Amino acid sequence: MEPLEKGQPLPPRQPDQPLVVLILAAGLGTRMKSARAKVLHELGGLPLITYVCRTAQSLGPEKILVVVGHQAGEVERAVRNEVGGRAAFVTQTEQRGTGDAVMAAQAQLWSSDNLVLILSGDVPLIRQATLEGFISQHRTSAAVCSILSVRLENPTGYGRIIRDESDRFLRIVEQKDATPEEQAVKEINSGIYCFDARKLFAALKRVKPSNQQGEYYLTDVPQILLSDGDQVNVQLHGNAREVSGINTRAELSEFENLMRRNTIRKLMVDDGVTFLDPSHAYVSAEAELGRDCIIFPGVSIEGKCVIGEGCEIRSGTRITNSRLGNNVLVKDHCVIIDSEIESNCAVGPFAHLRMNAVLAEGSVVGNFVEVKKSRLGRRSKAMHLSYLGDATIGENTNIGAGTVTCNYDGKDKHPTIIEGDVRIGSDTMLVAPVKVGKGSVTAAGSVVTEDVPPNTLVAGVPAVVKKKLKNSEK
Ligand code: UD1
Ligand code: CA
Repeated sequence: MEPLEKGQPLPPRQPDQPLVVLILAAGLGTRMKSARAKVLHELGGLPLITYVCRTAQSLGPEKILVVVGHQAGEVERAVRNEVGGRAAFVTQTEQRGTGDAVMAAQAQLWSSDNLVLILSGDVPLIRQATLEGFISQHRTSAAVCSILSVRLENPTGYGRIIRDESDRFLRIVEQKDATPEEQAVKEINSGIYCFDARKLFAALKRVKPSNQQGEYYLTDVPQILLSDGDQVNVQLHGNAREVSGINTRAELSEFENLMRRNTIRKLMVDDGVTFLDPSHAYVSAEAELGRDCIIFPGVSIEGKCVIGEGCEIRSGTRITNSRLGNNVLVKDHCVIIDSEIESNCAVGPFAHLRMNAVLAEGSVVGNFVEVKKSRLGRRSKAMHLSYLGDATIGENTNIGAGTVTCNYDGKDKHPTIIEGDVRIGSDTMLVAPVKVGKGSVTAAGSVVTEDVPPNTLVAGVPAVVKKKLKNSEK
């Protein structure tokens, strides 16, 4: 099918006209004053584009098409992270306006009688229910184009909806092209539209860049359709915040605050979590916290964290993509990334857990201890100033102050195994690969270069066997 010629009537619309969502995301977002494309800036820890993709997918469309340009590769990755293979991409090489962006998708869309829902990548709060209502109104009307509008107290920067004396829609005028009279209009174009695909592209090719910005405006299309005798609907939506886009970093931070307040409020009201100062805590929308957790000021909980019941997280701590059991105490200023802490553990202050550190039930990590890719067994302790890397530590073992697993020889990483009921003396260097047998003791300051058998005391530099502590029962 070819695009319709001017004035050609649309064939009768099928009630189940397939839905295609077209997301515009090629722009740099000049007003962000950034080297990064606007839709890659993060909101609630996720790229901005994620949100509109999620909502688009919830509508169950035939296809999601994303127009990319600036940092296309990264934007595509962010989209795929959210909707997988369900999105297709078209590239707009030069950003010549929203009309040009839609034009870039023409080859994918024009030969169909699809219903095209157009969204912008920078409108994160738009809800599924709003779009469903908007689409269904469009479907049941005779309009070939529907525009979602809102009223703003301060409409500066937006395209205005211009109506005649009888309140009938006439056209959209962009801020920069508006007369002072038009600028006084408070009803604005949200940038969300439904179009019949063939009508859209037929009109789009007649759009001229004859405006202040020299751009091809998608917003000229409704007026062209009207002049062809087609019907255009404007639906006024009540919630301005929901459809407003993010254009500046100031707006980004407002949205961030709003989302954060909602997330924390929900955790307090629905999940029974205490926040000592909700305005100074940062919790990702994807995190789960159990009841009776207490979150102190200045805590950040990022990504997909699952935190059990009755945990206390003290000030200045950051927890990212980690799991905590019940009744875990995390003291001040800890960094915990991609790690797991089982129930009844205590951590910190100033501890660093990363790369799949695992603290088994009841174990304790104290101040200035770093645990990387290591497991600390049940009820074991590393209380002060230690580095535990690539180590597996058994139960009821004590790691003395200043202990270091020397896991890196400059080329490769090597494992350390410390079995249960061991006492590692202060300032012991464990030169990996090395193993300390069950029930053994290293004296303070030992440099352990060879495996220590069970129930043995070693000491010195390098450490040698001093005595057998008891006969190992085999
Ligand atoms: C646009 C509308 C305006 C509306 C506002 C709502 C036009 C001309 N104006 O203005 O009426 O009130 O949205 O938020 O459409 N984009 C591209 N390629 C381009 C240009 C833009 O992909 O060449 C994308 C952007 O990445 C963005 C979206 O289109 O996601 C909107 O572009 P933006 O520049 O933010 O338009 P506004 O000036 O906000
Ligand atoms: Ca915008």
